[in-house]
Amino acid sequence: MMEIDKILSTLTLEEKVSLLFGKGMWEIGGVRDTPEVLMVDGPHGVRKPIDINTTGIFEGNHAATAFPILSALAATWNVDIARQVGNTLANECHHYDVHVLLAPGVNIKRTPLGGRNFEYLSEDPILTGEIASAYINGLQEKGIGTSLKHYAANNSEFERMTISSEVDERTLREIYLTAFETVVKKSDPWLVMTSYNKVNGYRSEENPLLMNQILRKEWNYDGVTISDWGAVSNRLKALKATLDIEMPGPSLSKQKQLVKQIEAGEVDEAIVDASVRRILELMVKAMEGKKHAKDAYDFDHHHLVAKQVAVEGTVLLKNDRNVLPINKEKTKSVLVIGRHAMHPRISGKGGSAMVTPYRLDIPLESMKEIAGEEVIIHYAEGYDDFDSDKNEMYQQQAIELAKQVDAVIIFAGVPEKMEEAEGFDKVVTELPEDQTGLIVSVAEVQPNTAVVLSNGSPLTMKGWIDRVPAIVEGWFSGQAGGSAIADILFGLANPSGKLSETFPEHIGHNPSHLSYPGENGKVHYHEGVFVGYRYYDKKHIKPLFPFGHGLSYTEFTYESIEVNKDAIHDDETVEVSVTVRNNGAMAGMEVVQLYVHDYESSVIRPVKELKAFQKVHLQPGEAKTLTFTLAKRDFAFYDVASQGWCVETGLFDLLVGSSSADIHLSTAIHVTSTEERKPVFTKNSLTKEWLQDNNGKKIIMDFFTQLSDELNMEDEYTLSFLKECPIPAVISLFGQKWMETNDADEVLKQLIDKVNQANGSSKGGL
Ligand code: BGC
Repeated sequence: MMEIDKILSTLTLEEKVSLLFGKGMWEIGGVRDTPEVLMVDGPHGVRKPIDINTTGIFEGNHAATAFPILSALAATWNVDIARQVGNTLANECHHYDVHVLLAPGVNIKRTPLGGRNFEYLSEDPILTGEIASAYINGLQEKGIGTSLKHYAANNSEFERMTISSEVDERTLREIYLTAFETVVKKSDPWLVMTSYNKVNGYRSEENPLLMNQILRKEWNYDGVTISDWGAVSNRLKALKATLDIEMPGPSLSKQKQLVKQIEAGEVDEAIVDASVRRILELMVKAMEGKKHAKDAYDFDHHHLVAKQVAVEGTVLLKNDRNVLPINKEKTKSVLVIGRHAMHPRISGKGGSAMVTPYRLDIPLESMKEIAGEEVIIHYAEGYDDFDSDKNEMYQQQAIELAKQVDAVIIFAGVPEKMEEAEGFDKVVTELPEDQTGLIVSVAEVQPNTAVVLSNGSPLTMKGWIDRVPAIVEGWFSGQAGGSAIADILFGLANPSGKLSETFPEHIGHNPSHLSYPGENGKVHYHEGVFVGYRYYDKKHIKPLFPFGHGLSYTEFTYESIEVNKDAIHDDETVEVSVTVRNNGAMAGMEVVQLYVHDYESSVIRPVKELKAFQKVHLQPGEAKTLTFTLAKRDFAFYDVASQGWCVETGLFDLLVGSSSADIHLSTAIHVTSTEERKPVFTKNSLTKEWLQDNNGKKIIMDFFTQLSDELNMEDEYTLSFLKECPIPAVISLFGQKWMETNDADEVLKQLIDKVNQANGSSKGGL
């Protein structure tokens, strides 16, 4: 076992500094007797470059299990399976002598155009945080570290290394930091990776608010922070902000410069020592983690885990006339159309998240296996991803064949040439016209047509959505996606995925649309906390498919909701029990979603927010009761004035649904705040604020009586007019006569002191 204090005391300054940089592209350490720690990319598999001195971003990686993309993992809404994915990834890391997987990314999906959406989880911070937490636990409990990324507000790829995400504090806390906070507190990732982008003008790795204050002080994070690859512009500033490691390395000239700066006293050596200590602690964990290296390791089992994620992440978007599943008894022939049925899209392209699969299930082949001799499966290419000149011919062939079969399955999706990738954003959300034209023409001649989609982030479906009875969101589904989709199409598996992101009818409806992608080096998050369903709800815009949506081959009934208390103080918890029954003929899984709605608030809040969810498996006819626990934070908003989470006394609805738009049950609870906010009065306080406060009301009503006869507070118009005015304006408008004998400033000061004293508030005054 390494003795950290001893090592620290014997390292020279140069040696300490060299630990603050990568040893190479993927390793750290190896200074004097310290071990080397090898880190490689995730999140969709272990992407270990064959030549460890290269990035391997484009190709040249060892084969590994390619899991479905994180969009699909989030669409499972299943924390158990996320943990299993973590376990499986850990096994493969051990197999490849890797100590840390650079994953997962928990940035919120702000726009469907975000290039890396496929490697992020959701538009909702609770869903993101819970799935990521389980994934991390799965890895770290098996001795493999994770690097939570990209801290923070990395929500698009446009000018990604220089742009500043301009986000107000409440939005940052409620939307963009919550998932990081959840994961740091629940799962203690060994590392946190900073983002390429700036946040509110500061580079992320130099950002005192994000790093020193929030991550280290408020969340008590004492793990290692690491830069994104090539992100650091000023090593000294980053060090002061507690950035431990700059990657990649060794960047020798930068090391020399940093040594000089430390020697010149530009930074306290204690800060260097603290960083080195954290890095040495990471090394200890990495070495200890290797005791799990002998755990059973089985590629075939890993393939099955990948398949289960693909099955559970598949979202049945639409299924009119129960066109799906294909009924083998009634169907003699099926036509499968589309290149992606032969060449499945298993991941977004390029970048950190593309894994070289060691095995690949082909949808068409898997369908043929299930169909056996009872159902004949035909195939038509339908379109070419690369050369659209042939597409008219392919389309005609497909239409002719479609007339002759009982059902058609069209595999459509984002073509390989239209990349969804790290490094740049998408430009469209529609499928190419060759594909949409094909879908419409085939559906005209064949009413039993279902479309299976391959994509990483929401597609819009203009002109074709109403033409087909069934649509299945299959995502980029990893190496086992082919057999997973075949099971779903034939009903061997029952779809249970739910959207982790709203699908808008039009990209212009997306809340970020007016400020995306940004200009002059800044992208303003003008929509504030109204991201995803929070926006569509508030604006009464019906999306194409809402957040949380997903159908099943069976039917679930939401039978009852109960709370164990109908009133709590905010330092207490409440238990919500929900009973759900499977009323159909097939076993299936339902994702029960619990949202909270605040009746009345002093800040503008979303209509409802997801606070908890559970996935439940039910046999036909079976009912189960699920219990959720809600606590203070579930009712709170981030109060910028008091710099904390604030619950205001009042009623809250607890809404239970099968999606954000399908609420089946509700009840209400009264929550009393234990730290009611005491307003601090100043001369800018408005009349309405004086009136809202018990002491303030009495004081200001007395004063108005003395000020002028004009102020009849019984009159509604007078009252409404005055409410929005600060007291100096009221005096100026109505107290000209009164000022002949009174000193306005002096009286105002007395009023303010009086109310602040009565309330026990210390600050304030003129
Ligand atoms: C990405 C990170 C990744 C790193 C190493 C960066 O370009 O943003 O997500 O972990 O490269 O490949």
